[in-house]
Amino acid sequence: MTDPSPRVQFDPAAMDGAAFYRVLNSVVVPRPIAWVCSRSAEGVVNLAPHSFYTVACVEPPVVQFTSVGRKDSLRNVEATGEFTVSLTPEWLFEQVNATGTDFPPGVSEAEECGVTLEPSERVGVPRVAGSPVAVECTLHATLRLGDSTVVLGRVQLVSVWESAVRDGRPRIEQLQPLARLGGNEWSTLGEVREIKRISYRRWAGDPAIGEGVRGD
Ligand SMILES: Cc1cc2nc3c(=O)[nH]c(=O)nc-3n(C[C@H](O)[C@H](O)[C@H](O)COP(=O)(O)O)c2cc1C
Repeated sequence: MTDPSPRVQFDPAAMDGAAFYRVLNSVVVPRPIAWVCSRSAEGVVNLAPHSFYTVACVEPPVVQFTSVGRKDSLRNVEATGEFTVSLTPEWLFEQVNATGTDFPPGVSEAEECGVTLEPSERVGVPRVAGSPVAVECTLHATLRLGDSTVVLGRVQLVSVWESAVRDGRPRIEQLQPLARLGGNEWSTLGEVREIKRISYRRWAGDPAIGEGVRGD
């Protein structure tokens, strides 16, 4: 399907930065949400959602989130070298949003928003008890890019509720992740489709090959 209407062009060089940010947020979608938990040097536990979040490296396992500006999460991770990322499940929608409120540094969002935390296994920062997945990280590096800082976390452990793991793999139906869209829009999972990646040998019709294409 092609759309015959002309394209609207959004040129960062011709736009106000905030306006372009809104456009980018509306087209890089849907984004997973990292519920980043960190602790300040003074011991205050912080919890904040970050949708600029993805896997940065496979070996070693590294995840990344981006702090737009210098926020408490970034300052805390720099100070202690540790953080956890909890998956944001559908059933905690309001709480996830509430922890994005710009509380002052001395306030613990988790306490304020009624989010129960529990101790992690490998790092001194807690994880969200009501989330099926926690990724425990130590700080690998930070990368300053203009007004933002990419935080790279070396993954020390991923823990998943047993009820959400089948045949050794966490199952999306149990995780029910929220995702972030543009504006104030969020989304839930929707239809899950499956398809196998096609190796070139198969594509080219080599009859000698069987299954075993690495799927990711
Ligand atoms: C769903 C959602 C996703 C967000 N993603 C980001 C993000 O990727 N980067 C960022 O800097 N702020 C993001 N924010 C805003 C922060 O969560 C917000 O500024 C928060 O107050 C930061 O908390 P902190 O100062 O305790 O770190 C997001 C907010 C929401 C609700």
